[in-house]
Parts: sequence; C-alpha cells; structure tokens
Amino acid sequence: MTSLLMRSIKFLVGLGFVGVLLIALWGTISGLIREGTPQTAEQALHEHPKELHLPSNGPFGKFDLAQLQRGFKVYEKVCAQCHSLNLVSFRELAGLGYNEAEIKKIAKDWPVKQPVFDNKAGTWGERDNTPADRFPKVYYAANGTPPDLSLITKARHDGAAYVYSLMVGYTEKPDAEGAKKFPEALKSPEGLHFNKYFANLHLAMPAPLTDAQIDTVKYTDGTPTTVDQMAQDVSAFLVWTAEPTMQQRHRFGVAVLIFLIFATILGYGAYRNVWRGMKH
Ligand code: HEC
Repeated sequence: MTSLLMRSIKFLVGLGFVGVLLIALWGTISGLIREGTPQTAEQALHEHPKELHLPSNGPFGKFDLAQLQRGFKVYEKVCAQCHSLNLVSFRELAGLGYNEAEIKKIAKDWPVKQPVFDNKAGTWGERDNTPADRFPKVYYAANGTPPDLSLITKARHDGAAYVYSLMVGYTEKPDAEGAKKFPEALKSPEGLHFNKYFANLHLAMPAPLTDAQIDTVKYTDGTPTTVDQMAQDVSAFLVWTAEPTMQQRHRFGVAVLIFLIFATILGYGAYRNVWRGMKH
C-alpha cells in the first residue's frame, strides 16, 4: 500500500517537473515566434560581396593571361609585403606567360629571401629565391596574422568576389539605417579597420589598395591603374593561384559531357536494335 503511495507521489513530482519544463519551452517558442531574435550589429551592417565578372567565372570560364599578369604585379608590389603564397612556386609563373629568364629574375629579386640553416655555424642565414622555391613566408610583426593567400579564393564564400569587395570596401559607407541603430559597431577597436564585407566588420588589415599604390604598381599594358582595377586583377590572380589547372578541368569536363551524350545515343540505338520486333 505504502509503496503504491510512494510511487504515485514520485510520479506526480516527475509530472510536475515535466510540466514546468513544457511551460518554459512554450514561453520561449511563443516569444521567438512573436518577436524573433533581436537583430545583431553584424546582421544590420555586414554585406554580401558585390558581383565580380571575371573571364574565369562559369563552367566554360578561361583565364585572361594579361589580367593575371597585372594581378601578379599587384601581389608582388603590394600584398607580398604581408602575405605568402606558400603553395605556389616561382616556376609556376610560366602558366601566366613569363619565360624562364623572366622567372629567374623575379625569383632572384624577390625581397623576402629563403631561410637557410648553416650546419657548421649552427645559425640561420638566407639566400636568394630560385624558380623551384615557393613564394616565401613573411614575418609580420603588427596586429593580426596575414593568412597565406594561395587558397583564399577557395576558402571564402564567393571567393574572388569577396576578395574584390574586401579591397574596395574600406572606402564604402555602411548601411545608413544599420549605422543609426548600431553606432557603436562602427568604431573600430585599436589597430582594426572597418569593412562591411568582413564577417565581424573589423579586420587587422589596413586598406591595402589606395591611390598611394597606383605609382608603385603602374600597369604597362595600357590598362588604367585604378584601385578598382587593381582589386579586380589581384582577385583574378588569386583564383589562378588556388587552381592553376582550372582551364584544363573545364576542357575535360566539356569533353566528358560530349562523350556521355554520344554514349547515351549509342546505348539507346543498341537497345532499340536488340529489342526490335519484341513485345515488351
Ligand atoms: C600591411 C600588411 C598587409 C598587406 C600589405 C596586405 N594585407 Fe591582407 N591581411 C593582413 C592582415 C594582418 C590580415 C588578417 C586580418 C584579420 O584577420 O583581421 C589580412 C587578411 C587578408 C585576407 C583575409 C580576410 C579574411 O576573410 O580572413 C585577404 C583576402 C587579404 N588579406 C588580401 C590581401 C590582398 C589581396 C592584398 C594586396 C592587395 C593584401 N591583403 C595586402 C595584412 C596585409
């Protein structure tokens, strides 16, 4: 008798707990449905990348070698001070149309040298780059760590369009309504810079492309050297570094599709032939 009483009490206590939890859950869900989650500063101010039309876009895209060479020049003169390209070697520049002598010279003159360990003295020294070397690592002693850029267009949503937007985004105004709602979010912490295309709105990289770089980069193929053009070209170049063989992949893809279509037609013809005159 007592055990039945005890069991009933336990059951009721349990039921009470479950009931309280259900009421709390209902409160949360109905609150969410009525009011939604409050908007954050990132939601109000962060923007998706702008559109960027590159010749390499789309399944039939091709690289524009002149643009890639300009993009390489932007990387060489501006970005390489802080960013490495540690998955790309100098000799791969042949893919952009540079000849052996040019590549040797680019490697030799590269300002960041390759570290070498002197076994006898037990110390580190450095030597000039050779075509077989990768673009060297950079030791950067300021705010933040510049990531290696070899694969950056694969590592970020909207790859090249994102890099391009980030480059030109420093001078763009934040959304006016969002700015009114979250004035605090516009103030960059010490050493960071506002950019509405960066996920958390403030990044450690100062605007790398400004009018000040125009004279350093100075295109020689007649293309006007503007910040927007440099941003497009360096983004195109970083699509190439992430997948230098993209064009071959596209060509193979088309060949495989043509083969599959042909094989399907052949297969269908064979099927019609084998089952000719049969009721099925
Ligand atoms: C003065 C040094 C410096 C120069 C020059 C520089 N960067 Fe950066 N870059 C940084 C630092 C530091 C970061 C890390 C920022 C962070 O995570 O807050 C960064 C980050 C980036 C990122 C990654 C952003 C992300 O989504 O994480 C990209 C892309 C980039 N830089 C591209 C470039 C390009 C292209 C150039 C040349 C036009 C360039 N950078 C020149 C210092 C530099």
